[in-house]
Amino acid sequence: MAEDKYSILLPTYNERENLPIIVWLLEKHLCDVNHEVIIIDDGSPDKTLDVAKELQKIYGKDKIVLRPREKKLGLGTAYIHGIKHATGNFVIIMDADLSHHPKFIPEFIKKQKDGDFDIVSGTRYSGSGGVYGWDLKRKIISRGANYVTQILLRPGASDLTGSFRLYRKEVLEKLVKACVSKGYVFQMEMIVRARQFGFTIGEVPISFVDRVYGESKLGGSEIIQFAKGLLYLFATT
Ligand code: GDD
Ligand code: MN
Repeated sequence: MAEDKYSILLPTYNERENLPIIVWLLEKHLCDVNHEVIIIDDGSPDKTLDVAKELQKIYGKDKIVLRPREKKLGLGTAYIHGIKHATGNFVIIMDADLSHHPKFIPEFIKKQKDGDFDIVSGTRYSGSGGVYGWDLKRKIISRGANYVTQILLRPGASDLTGSFRLYRKEVLEKLVKACVSKGYVFQMEMIVRARQFGFTIGEVPISFVDRVYGESKLGGSEIIQFAKGLLYLFATT
């Protein structure tokens, strides 16, 4: 059997302070693992792409792959764009703002192997998982979204809106094709569809730490989109 390879998708929008740290941490924690990091920058005004190019010079073109786009086209389509260029048989998606710590990735990999899972999802809402640094409003939104979705769709995973996950590549491709939503609701739809298809999901508790540098791109319109997406899935699945 060929050795497993892991493609890490890092979507970035204005992450110039965070990118060197996340890449350094990834290389530190994945030194024993065959991997590549695919950076999908959407024309960040803070010139994140220039930083990414410097990192590529340091770590090499086989480790750091750049797949930029001209302008901000959203997180969902950034993943779709990244998957097309992934050469690994497993794909890991995570945020680039240090909210998702690379130290958990070896645990994801172990979990996948132990249970032969199709998906391993990082969870803030089970076991030792948690959220640090969010204000009450943000906590309520996230908890609320998870709670309502649990009741309406019974998806069989504890963290539906999180985006720190490992997928078999062919599973991710199939799910992405099946998903209709873009934006923030995308993560939740992926898990709901996974259950429809009968894919198996393992969970690893993670601590999510709010970003230090830069700003979240979550706003009121994303919350409305989420609610619409949830109702759509409730009506159609
Ligand atoms: N390429 C690209 N294009 N990247 C983007 C875009 C975009 O339009 N929008 C955001 N990103 C990148 C950010 O640079 C970061 O690496 C990651 O996507 C997450 O964006 P944040 O703005 O930091 O998201 P958040 O912290 O508010 O939301 C997180 O928690 C949500 C709820 O748990 C993310 O993990 C969401 O996916 C999650 O749903
Ligand atoms: Mn964030």
